[in-house]
Amino acid sequence: MTSEKLIKSKERVQQHGEVFTPQWMVQKMLDVEGVKEACENIEATFLEPSAGDGNFLVAILERKLKAVTEQFSDGHWKTKSLFALSSIYGIEFLADNLEIARSRMLLRYLNWYEEFFHVYLTSKSDLYKSAMYIIRRNIVRGNTLTKKHPDYDTPILLNEWKRVKGSSSKVEKIEFTFSSLFSDGEEIEKGIPEGQMSFFDFEMIDEEKDESVSESVIIDIQKVHQLGER
Ligand SMILES: C[S@@+](CC[C@H](N)C(=O)[O-])C[C@H]1O[C@@H](n2cnc3c(N)ncnc32)[C@H](O)[C@@H]1O
Repeated sequence: MTSEKLIKSKERVQQHGEVFTPQWMVQKMLDVEGVKEACENIEATFLEPSAGDGNFLVAILERKLKAVTEQFSDGHWKTKSLFALSSIYGIEFLADNLEIARSRMLLRYLNWYEEFFHVYLTSKSDLYKSAMYIIRRNIVRGNTLTKKHPDYDTPILLNEWKRVKGSSSKVEKIEFTFSSLFSDGEEIEKGIPEGQMSFFDFEMIDEEKDESVSESVIIDIQKVHQLGER
């Protein structure tokens, strides 16, 4: 039996409250009514505000990828799996935990691909590059309390990957600041419509539009890596 390491050091617990959630508890929390159904809905969005090394992110991804193969025909698995990946967000303060979380997400995705397509996904493929691109843009370094980068005075930037109506694979990539999800420091959570899990149902508050937010762009989700730094 393997034992999970939930604490890395006493100092990290004291400085960053770094105690990881054991797998059994992660699964139990994801089984809660409403959350369970959202994990089976590839478009329902999740945001982990202190992602750690990705215990929740990976578990949500596993459930969503299972939903992809159960709910769609194999011809749609590539596109749908990227939609699933693009619905999972994380913010993490510590650089080392962030990189572990990102790597675990990519590895889980690659393992899923190999299991269902019976071939290894090459790093030269559009799918691999786009999966990596989405992971790097959705799981980012930040301080969720200040809503900024831990080391610089720059806002936490995320992207909405909005499905384009009438297309099965096109998305509109819309960049937004994490702070735009809040109003005057107050979460706009009280406006959540009953039964809704997506944070994009909120009207984006554009009073304090940030100059660093780039123009939106429409592209096939399997090609998003071509956007590079955009
Ligand atoms: C209690 S662990 C939880 C990790 C993960 N959610 C889990 O359950 O396994 C705390 C993590 O939150 C991060 N963290 C602490 N304060 C944070 C903040 N203000 N913004 C973002 N991440 C933070 C720490 O760096 C650490 O990796």
